[in-house]
Amino acid sequence: MTLINIFDYEERALQILDPLARDYYRSGADDEVTLRNNRAAFEPIRLRPRVLVDVSMIDLATTVLGTPVSMPILVAPTAYHGLAHADGECATARGVGPTGTLMTVSTLGNRRLEDVAAAASGPLWFQLYVYRDRVLSEALVRRAEAAGYRALVLTVDAPRLGQRERDVRNGFGLPPHLHMANFTDNSDATAHTQQTGASGLALHADAMFDQTLTWEAVDWLRSITKLPILVKGVLTPEDALLAVEHGVDGIVVSNHGGRQLDGALATIEALPSIAAAVAGRCELFLDGGVRRGTDVAKALALGARAVLVGRPVLWGLAVNGSAGVTAVLELLRAELERAMALLGRPTVAALDASAVQLPAHWSS
Ligand code: FNR
Ligand code: LAC
Repeated sequence: MTLINIFDYEERALQILDPLARDYYRSGADDEVTLRNNRAAFEPIRLRPRVLVDVSMIDLATTVLGTPVSMPILVAPTAYHGLAHADGECATARGVGPTGTLMTVSTLGNRRLEDVAAAASGPLWFQLYVYRDRVLSEALVRRAEAAGYRALVLTVDAPRLGQRERDVRNGFGLPPHLHMANFTDNSDATAHTQQTGASGLALHADAMFDQTLTWEAVDWLRSITKLPILVKGVLTPEDALLAVEHGVDGIVVSNHGGRQLDGALATIEALPSIAAAVAGRCELFLDGGVRRGTDVAKALALGARAVLVGRPVLWGLAVNGSAGVTAVLELLRAELERAMALLGRPTVAALDASAVQLPAHWSS
């Protein structure tokens, strides 16, 4: 079968992947309500096409925190690419390079952040989990700076992990041949736990992540680095305003792909009120359920500077390595390009609020 959309890649990847990896990648928390709603919430948003606009040239280029990218579709940080490909995150980086967009690299990679940077030909952001051990966390920041990463993405929605029930049933643990490559000592030992009734990754998070983390962590990060800072995992205008007060450069509206608090707002539902509250004081990004070019158009119209995609990249990597990653991103680019032509909005800047109509019951 020719793979012509993200769902085709997903279906193929689910056939290929080892069951433990497949379940880890695809799962959401608990009943997966938020996982499903991330997709479903895009549907009732209507697009408002304008006609008789010259759409012979569609320009997808934009900048994110000052970095030029070829399109407003970035790669979200996801852990454990080694479960999909022997070269792990390095293979992903090689696939992203030719697309001219940006990749966010997870703290929990199976390749060292320096090796991913060496494999990359385009811009990178580094996703940071702040550990109880601030010395360890600061060391990650220093390494990301030295390796040329352009920004730090502080994930704030995971003081501990949500319960992904398939992982618990599978006793999901990192296979012995893979490592959390950014840690040189034995810090990843718990993540290898393979025990029915527990996710090794959740055990790692319980042992290592700092559950006392507050907005102080953003100030701390600001005090130790000059790199731009984004917070990832904001779903309310209240928190978006706090983020602005604490001087962040960007906010990623995210519910971690439905993997943390089940029942949390879908990200596209959360975006309009956050955009209104932030009012341009920092750049806004969105991830969660973006699978179509029209989803990207809706997010941009509602105030996102760009979107990030998580699982689609993993599906591409599993199906065809670096080439699969490139193919998935190019497929989304082509869909967005077509959507913009049919919308009569030939530039990213033209994708403003006039391009969408929200469901009536959202405006309360
Ligand atoms: C994630 N996500 C994530 N986020 C993060 O900040 N650090 C991480 O290490 C990971 N790891 C991770 C692993 C896997 C397998 C998935 C699916 C997701 C969340 C990720 O950055 C992003 O928020 C979601 O994946 C976006 O949703 P979609 O595009 O997967 O629907
Ligand atoms: C996850 C963590 C690692 O979602 O962020 O699996």
